[in-house]
Amino acid sequence: LRVVVLISGSGSNLQALIDGAASGELPIEIAAVISNRPDVFGLTRAHNAGIVTQTLDHKGFTNREAFDVALMQLIDSYEPGLVVLAGFMRILTPEFTQHYLGRMLNIHPSLLPKFQGLHTHQRALDAGESHHGVTVHFVTAELDGGPAVIQAKVPVLAGDDAALLAKRVQRQEHVIYPLAVKWFALGNLAMQEGKALLNGELL
Ligand code: GRF
Repeated sequence: LRVVVLISGSGSNLQALIDGAASGELPIEIAAVISNRPDVFGLTRAHNAGIVTQTLDHKGFTNREAFDVALMQLIDSYEPGLVVLAGFMRILTPEFTQHYLGRMLNIHPSLLPKFQGLHTHQRALDAGESHHGVTVHFVTAELDGGPAVIQAKVPVLAGDDAALLAKRVQRQEHVIYPLAVKWFALGNLAMQEGKALLNGELL
């Protein structure tokens, strides 16, 4: 399966996908990695793996619609079967999400529907949660609101701060994101009528 990965930062989830593809565990070819921010470490990771990289800086566009149209054109030039958002820190227009409906995944660092949006680790701590985690979901027009594919749960421990908790969550991210991508690549995972299905069963 041809995959395009979108990033804005360090790309540790991208690295998990690169490693999975390299080991043969993941039946994907990463056709391109696109960042909206120049000079992020994720681009270096892609470059080191011999993957085509593109930077499309949102600051060069007058509005969100114009950026998203350009981004769609760039993505589509690689003809991916799946678009993977891996720390891509942009709110997407409905036109964009509709265009990739059922073939775009995101990873969000909370147990959705809890803590949509930013600063999830601190908010989980402030709320006194005993557990926190991460969710892979199909992307719909609703921010962090598409149907969940897989979640991983971690305990919140005494003495945690946001950074410690984020680290514990990220270790799980690197397990569940490749797994979800593998399911999709094998044709086991799909979205139908707004719901995620694994082997034809509702998730
Ligand atoms: C991850 O915590 C992910 O859940 C969130 O952004 C972060 C990206 O990290 N959406 P990385 O760039 O993959 O290291």
